[in-house]
Amino acid sequence: MPPLLYLILSAYLIPISQCHPNTCRSYCGNITIDYPFAVQYGCGHPGFRDLLYCINDVLMFHISSGSYRVLEIDYAYQALTLHEPHMSTCHNLVLGSRGNGFALEPWRAPYMNPAADNVFMLIACSPRSPLFQGFPGKHLPCRNVSGMGCQDYYSCPAWEMMGHKPLGSPSFFGSGPPECCALPYEAIRGINLTKLQCEGYTSAYSVAPLRVHGPGDWSYGIRVRYSVQGNDEFCGACEATGGSCGFASDGIRQLCMCGDFNSTSNCDSDSGSSFYHLLLPPFIMFMLSC
Ligand SMILES: *[C@@H]1O[C@H](CO)[C@@H](O)[C@H](O)[C@H]1NC(C)=O
Ligand SMILES: *[C@@H]1O[C@H](CO)[C@@H](O)[C@H](O)[C@H]1NC(C)=O
Ligand SMILES: *[C@@H]1O[C@H](CO)[C@@H](O)[C@H](O)[C@H]1NC(C)=O
Ligand SMILES: *[C@@H]1O[C@H](CO)[C@@H](O)[C@H](O)[C@H]1NC(C)=O
Repeated sequence: MPPLLYLILSAYLIPISQCHPNTCRSYCGNITIDYPFAVQYGCGHPGFRDLLYCINDVLMFHISSGSYRVLEIDYAYQALTLHEPHMSTCHNLVLGSRGNGFALEPWRAPYMNPAADNVFMLIACSPRSPLFQGFPGKHLPCRNVSGMGCQDYYSCPAWEMMGHKPLGSPSFFGSGPPECCALPYEAIRGINLTKLQCEGYTSAYSVAPLRVHGPGDWSYGIRVRYSVQGNDEFCGACEATGGSCGFASDGIRQLCMCGDFNSTSNCDSDSGSSFYHLLLPPFIMFMLSC
């Protein structure tokens, strides 16, 4: 081979030769599923294992409190938007404690939590609810979150079916606790309708910095922020060498999947890969790995 051609091939083909296809990236309906999420076991970050399932092109999020439909994954903002049919909205109150609420397994808490500007509104809770412990002497945990709260929610058409008069009506049943109590997730760390003895709930979020007016304009759903913890050098190095990030069968150790072998670091650093790079001309490497 003429030396000049060899040099050109070396310069251009070595990076191309590392093009193992990303075997973990996937789609469910029109939602892209990428790191740290995955729908195939062994792919993604171990903190998000056994979480997402694609069923008939509908992406489902499964945690201990139940299953939710994933409406969106925002990778830039690191947020997921969830919904479930038993969540009340501005047009529909769902009572009878049929809703999931939202409760995460404790081991998942470092990786995801409902956003601080997501409001949960608990509806028709028993006066004996742990929410109202010590009421009326003690201060209630209920409050507005990011400008969203029960006072505004009462003006929704859904409340008409409860005989609620939207304007000027007291939000208390006599001297009892309120019919609706708004909270951020951090205030009680677990929206469990059974434990809280509530008939229903809703969840809404505002997509900052947009300021919306009134509960008819709120987005109903659960906005969850996620984080892989730390700077995730492992996956950065793995993807930079053409690998797909996954984890070992123990569900703990991260693995870099490099096509025909798995590495505990990245696709350049072990197994036979770098050895062949030294011995074979680059164009053969190119043919071998793509
Ligand atoms: C995905 O499709 C649904 C309707 O099937 C649509 O409402 C939604 O906006 C779409 N999402 C994206 C990110 O295109
Ligand atoms: C690499 O690891 C993944 C996930 O644990 C496994 O499914 C796959 O079979 C492994 N591949 C090889 C070549 O060992
Ligand atoms: C909700 O609370 C009930 C009663 O305390 C408990 O049995 C149940 O396991 C809790 N559910 C979740 C998902 O934590
Ligand atoms: C919550 O907001 C409503 C209207 O936006 C307001 O009337 C009410 O006083 C606020 N409640 C609290 C506890 O700040």
